[in-house]
Amino acid sequence: MVKIAPSILSADFARLGDEVKRLHDGGADIIHIDIMDGHFVPNITIGPMVVEAIRSVTDLPFDVHLMMDNPMDYISAYIEAGANGITVHGEVLPHLHRAVNYIKSFGVKAAVALNPSTPLNILDYVLDDIDMVLIMTVNPGFGGQKFIPVMMEKIRRLADIRNKSGLDFPIQVDGGIGLDNINEVVKAGADIIVAGSAVFKSDDVGAVIRALKEEALK
Ligand code: DX5
Ligand code: ZN
Repeated sequence: MVKIAPSILSADFARLGDEVKRLHDGGADIIHIDIMDGHFVPNITIGPMVVEAIRSVTDLPFDVHLMMDNPMDYISAYIEAGANGITVHGEVLPHLHRAVNYIKSFGVKAAVALNPSTPLNILDYVLDDIDMVLIMTVNPGFGGQKFIPVMMEKIRRLADIRNKSGLDFPIQVDGGIGLDNINEVVKAGADIIVAGSAVFKSDDVGAVIRALKEEALK
């Protein structure tokens, strides 16, 4: 079953609690929270205090995507704030195996994200340990960008690796996904769909989430 993880990056930050509630009521499966540090990506977004503030609004899982140069320094703070899963970028971690196991030592899910130009093979020796792989389908930093078409092939290749290895980690995809391409992305092998602008551009986020799920299953 495909899961929809709306990204609050495209929410109205002046009423963030209400926006999270709207996602909860609208049938979101997961809340995707994009953390940007102004170094790894040009933008700066959400600190642990803000995550803690919205934790009381919903019991949905908080999926915290750390787009940071120094994620090791902040993992515990985001977990204390209420993260149920932490995603780190493989590009910034020479000791990726250690990072993944460090996240898991807190009893939360550990995922690794790859930028569009990062090869899949950096995952070769951690695939057994990770709980999810995040394929970035845009260059991280901003919501509302266009899906990079060649990422379809990258998702297919990862799904093929998963098949052949007998592992069953979910593949999450993030960036430029909406009603026009969710079906193809899911057919390529994606299980968890992050969607920011596609969800928040509508007043009825529940209708968009339902439409995305329907389109995914066609
Ligand atoms: C991009 C973020 C995404 C982004 C997705 O750096 O990681 O989660 O918010 O937004 P859309 O769906 O608008 O591309
Ligand atoms: Zn993200």
